[in-house]
Amino acid sequence: MAKKLFSNYTLKNITLKNRIVMSPMCMYSCVKEDGKVMDWHLTHYTSRAVGQVGLIVVEATAVHPQGRISLYDLGIWNDEQIEGLKQLTEMTHQHGSKIGIQLAHAGRKAEVEGNIYAPSAIPFNDEMRIPKEMSIEEINEMIQSFKEGARRAKIAGFDVIEIHGAHGYLISSFLSPLTNQRTDEYGGSTEKRYRFLSQVVEAIKEEWDGPLLVRISASDYKEGGNTPNDFIYYVKRMKEQGVDLVDCSSGGVVPASIDAYPGYQVKFADQIRNEGNMATGAVGLIVNGLQAEEILKNERADLIFIGRELLRDPYWARTAAKQLRVEIESPVQYNRAW
Ligand code: FNR
Repeated sequence: MAKKLFSNYTLKNITLKNRIVMSPMCMYSCVKEDGKVMDWHLTHYTSRAVGQVGLIVVEATAVHPQGRISLYDLGIWNDEQIEGLKQLTEMTHQHGSKIGIQLAHAGRKAEVEGNIYAPSAIPFNDEMRIPKEMSIEEINEMIQSFKEGARRAKIAGFDVIEIHGAHGYLISSFLSPLTNQRTDEYGGSTEKRYRFLSQVVEAIKEEWDGPLLVRISASDYKEGGNTPNDFIYYVKRMKEQGVDLVDCSSGGVVPASIDAYPGYQVKFADQIRNEGNMATGAVGLIVNGLQAEEILKNERADLIFIGRELLRDPYWARTAAKQLRVEIESPVQYNRAW
């Protein structure tokens, strides 16, 4: 019987050779402040393409300098950053992988000098700075930054854009009632908290007609915060706007303890897929091929995002294929070795 993990998957106008996605993971490896692709990024991502990952999602890449998690983050806020990103997409394409970029703004969790921005002036915790409550003008500026990021991503040759709407960063902090206490049209009800993401999606669509993914934090793990049920509403709206797939992560919005057991977030991907009628990606402590196959065959998700296991093993796709007893392709250069 064919294994679903190694079956094709079509996302709008592209087809992935398998269901394995490299989850976005910050490398904090840029030269301080300039946000440009370095040799490390080329080596790191291309290795996973050689390792037969179907879709590589490049780490959180800042659409605005004030949206960096650290000063060593990748950036897509100016045209000079396009060249390195283009080299990265060309190198991974040579090995048959598709490549996406996670467009991000760190919001109140940004570790940069100057103002940090959030829907409301509430810090993440006592150690972090108090963010500035964004004016309507600043909201519009950030939406424009996402649009410009999408324009540059297209020139750089990416196949997919993933909007970072998770982990308490800017978009996520608009979605959660714990972090968004605005009383204007951007806060107060589920619909109003969705407005910022809705406008980011529309702005991106002006520049981008390829596959569009959104990463969410499906649970805040805190009384009064977002739950997966709230995301059934958000996802319905995303679907109306043409979002192709929702990547279901959780947490990071406010300090909370999370019980991270194997597959602990799969239930979110399952609920959103089957109640929300949206294609989903499952992520979080999915470590081997059998576990991934179970999730796909039981129709709990459409794609499997692998994070840390792909850091430990760039050939994780081969490892999973062996566990599932299937043969997969290798680069032609290696044909003689098998
Ligand atoms: C991450 N994660 C993450 N998530 C995200 O949406 N954008 C990012 O840039 C990062 N950066 C990042 C860096 C590092 C070093 C790690 C370990 C994690 C979260 C990651 O994508 C994934 O969701 C989690 O690691 C859970 O999946 P695994 O690692 O259990 O497969």
